[in-house]
Amino acid sequence: MCGIVGYVGYREAQPILLNSLKRLEYRGYDSCGIALQGSIIEVYKDVGRVEELEKMLPPVESKIGIGHTRWATHGKPSQINAHPHLDCSGKIAVVHNGVISNSQSLREQLVGEGHRFLSETDTEVIPHLIEKHYQGNLAQAVEAALGYINGSYSIVVVHTECEELVVARNESPLIIGVGDRENLIASDVPAVLDHTDRVIYLEDGDIGVVSKQGVRIFNNGVAVRREKHRIPWNIEEAQKSGYEHFMLKEIHEQPRVIRDSFRGYIRAIESVVDLGIGKLTHFDNILLLACGTSYYAAWVGKHAIEKLVRVPVMVELASEFNYNDTVLGKTWVIGITQSGETADTLKALKRAKGLGCRTLAIANVVESSVTRIAEQILYVRAGPEISVAATKSFVAQLVTLYLLALSYAIIDTRSRERLITELRILPNKVQQLLNEEEKIAECSKCLAKYENAFFVARGINLPVALEGALKLKEISYIHAEGYAAGELKHGPFALLTSNTPVIAIVAQDDTQETLITNLKEIKARESPLIALAEEGNEEVEKLADRVIWIPRVEPLFSPVLNGVALQLLAYYTARERGCPIDQPRNLAKSVTVE
Ligand code: AGP
Repeated sequence: MCGIVGYVGYREAQPILLNSLKRLEYRGYDSCGIALQGSIIEVYKDVGRVEELEKMLPPVESKIGIGHTRWATHGKPSQINAHPHLDCSGKIAVVHNGVISNSQSLREQLVGEGHRFLSETDTEVIPHLIEKHYQGNLAQAVEAALGYINGSYSIVVVHTECEELVVARNESPLIIGVGDRENLIASDVPAVLDHTDRVIYLEDGDIGVVSKQGVRIFNNGVAVRREKHRIPWNIEEAQKSGYEHFMLKEIHEQPRVIRDSFRGYIRAIESVVDLGIGKLTHFDNILLLACGTSYYAAWVGKHAIEKLVRVPVMVELASEFNYNDTVLGKTWVIGITQSGETADTLKALKRAKGLGCRTLAIANVVESSVTRIAEQILYVRAGPEISVAATKSFVAQLVTLYLLALSYAIIDTRSRERLITELRILPNKVQQLLNEEEKIAECSKCLAKYENAFFVARGINLPVALEGALKLKEISYIHAEGYAAGELKHGPFALLTSNTPVIAIVAQDDTQETLITNLKEIKARESPLIALAEEGNEEVEKLADRVIWIPRVEPLFSPVLNGVALQLLAYYTARERGCPIDQPRNLAKSVTVE
């Protein structure tokens, strides 16, 4: 998730582009750049934040320009990989947000035709494809170029010979801020609100020609009208897309995050998942290392890998591994970390490497420290996560671990195809659940009045119960504990009273019957009971005080839906208690000390 901008109008573009980029840095901030139109295209770009770039820029007079602030997915953050990217002639510059899944084959073809590539990015194929098709009409050349591209994109294109910018959108957001004798383009509303509150939202397949005087939009070659909306938000509200907190915004981003997480990894025709990290042949077992929420994701990963790949998987807290005598043989050690900066996980990976183990890091932040320790990297593509409480990164980690298990799965083709189909429809199921958030908010109203709570589950959903307890602890300050449902009778039953609510995940798998027995034991001790259960489960409905209905899903993937439901439960409980949700006390987004 990057931030792209464009300006065409009567004022100097440079300061407007820089300011708009600053407004979009919550979308990505590892490198940035601008391109200003003149007799030649002037490009300035570098690693780091916009204000750093601003300091080194000479004043350039131009009324037309584009800009970009990056969240690297393809190619590490570097000056050469930063956007904008040029074609061979230097007359065409492009900024892009999204992922081009067939960039490798397009690049090979274009190199074969004599085009010179400078960067490692997927984006750079776009200016070269436009150059290949340019015959004086930029919009036509852009339309022709996009015909070859698979994947998600929003782009802004500038050409030395055109007084207009050409923009296009497919799955990645793009808006046009309509001004008086000027127009602005951006990935999101905060970038234009300093200049206008009238915004056009482009739709998939739209190509726009934007000049000082106006905007023309086409879709499949036909002129289309797009409504102008008046934006009622201030800048901060807009950065949260109107959500009250970044956490709620990030929870609602998860259907897109899941799609992005498997984009380019699933070869639909052969029903093959290829992560490009080689064979599994040399290992006797796998060790997953992580902290906090990432540790619970690892635990779900253990279930998926052992079920599909039939290889033993150990899961350890990185902070403990560093002082344990864990026996490692031909072990593949995988470190899971959203930030890539968690000191315990970095130290654990270094230790494992020192013990002669092959290492892989599953990370969200590109080029973070962990990527310089592990031999191989797998990015989860959740985009920047601003709220301290991890939500979308957790779900992206789960999907990436499912892909890892599927890529080495020893199952028949039919089972593989069925699981891949289920994975593809997962974003819709998550959206279905998000559409019912009001009902979960209702449950939070009753939970908010308690100071203690238990989360229980069995099997693959036990780590999700622990994650649910962690989320509630982190942001609502309720002392919540996650516990294996079968363990309650071995002690915690002593704490169950009408003042200790229990949140139980009733999964639609072989643990259901025993879990329902546990619900009866919990109710016998008069604890308020909130259950997460599959739509229509009457037995649970009779037992629980409140039920959060979960759409029917392949049991292996149920941790994603149960995880999202518990994120919402924690969020609305914390809101009910008036807690500072995005910046909870005593916590940091990445813990860089042991
Ligand atoms: C989760 O909401 C917390 N922010 C915290 O537990 C976090 O998961 C933990 O610090 C690990 O962070 P990492 O994934 O960046 O390594």
